[in-house]
Amino acid sequence: MSSAKPTILVTGGAGYIGSHTVLALKRAGYEIVILDNLVYGHRDLVEKVLQVELVVGDTNDRTLLDKLFTTRAFDAVMHFSAYAYVGESVSDPAKYYRNNVIGTITLLEAMLAASIKNFVFSSTCATYGVPKEVPIPEDHPQNPINPYGATKLMVERILTDFDVAYGLKSVRFRYFNAAGADPSGNLGEDHNPETHLIPLVLQTALGLRDSVSIFGTDYPTPDGTCIRDYIHVSDLADAHILGLEYLLKGGDSAVFNLGNGSGFSVREVIDTAIKVTGKEIKAIECERRPGDPPSLIGSGDKARQTLGWEPKYSSIEDILTHAWSWHQKRHK
Ligand SMILES: NC(=O)c1ccc[n+]([C@@H]2O[C@H](COP(=O)([O-])OP(=O)(O)OC[C@H]3O[C@@H](n4cnc5c(N)ncnc54)[C@H](O)[C@@H]3O)[C@@H](O)[C@H]2O)c1
Repeated sequence: MSSAKPTILVTGGAGYIGSHTVLALKRAGYEIVILDNLVYGHRDLVEKVLQVELVVGDTNDRTLLDKLFTTRAFDAVMHFSAYAYVGESVSDPAKYYRNNVIGTITLLEAMLAASIKNFVFSSTCATYGVPKEVPIPEDHPQNPINPYGATKLMVERILTDFDVAYGLKSVRFRYFNAAGADPSGNLGEDHNPETHLIPLVLQTALGLRDSVSIFGTDYPTPDGTCIRDYIHVSDLADAHILGLEYLLKGGDSAVFNLGNGSGFSVREVIDTAIKVTGKEIKAIECERRPGDPPSLIGSGDKARQTLGWEPKYSSIEDILTHAWSWHQKRHK
């Protein structure tokens, strides 16, 4: 390591999961530089809440990366930046392969040129496609059913090959559904456009939307609606610190699911949100969406055993309570 306090480059650190991880890194005493092109990131949260250095730039900009890596000594890179809208990845796959795959190769090559060999990568349960078993273990076959999932799987493969050829060590985290907000209520989820269930439900509670749609009520689940594994964003952030420490101590490349090992149905999320917010939330039943598996639940056992990760907020009430406090503040 190059300094007493390791210095970490966080790409996408102005976005949802990246910003919560920056907060956790800061609390753990790391030096942090964020690289974000602000296409979806929030400058105000970096300046007011995170208060760390922000470089506004793109992972596809090799000149900028070379300059960054020669002016500062980084011990590791945490790579959150990507495009992540599944529907858009189907209609405009070029945009996704360019940003998520070519952007990552550009970043990795710049890292190698600067002899930075530790990399933490945001992968996804979307690399599994339609699961054959739940909870899904890490060695489950990966057959993504959309270009977004394919871009993440490609990067996973690239990381395997770059380890063999160049000794680049990586931790790949396959997240299930990131949700919730920092318990302070100062940081949370603010995607635009928003496609995730919990913010949509809470925006409906706030009166910013008329209703929330339930896509499919005839799935083979107890209440007929889809079940997903919601993992609190602060628990994801904690796992990233553990994954980083693992690499900085010389750990070998590894892949970990980040999920709770249990799930909640769309109806359970809406019913709990009604209790937590005390508001009416109108839900409209719609047809199934193509490509939505009935149940997506990830086994987090490997991360628990290898990294000592213990999610703190696995109840849907906690996730919704923290998200609600953030949404009320953000949309005041
Ligand atoms: N949100 C989830 O539930 C979830 C689940 C699985 C995986 N992931 C992955 O986690 C990561 C973070 O997701 P998020 O929900 O925080 O998304 P987000 O959109 O909030 O954050 C991504 C950030 O990256 C930035 N960015 C995008 N392309 C860039 C580029 N080329 N150069 C520099 N900055 C760029 C955006 O401006 C944004 O701030 C993504 O890689 C996503 O695929 C998210």
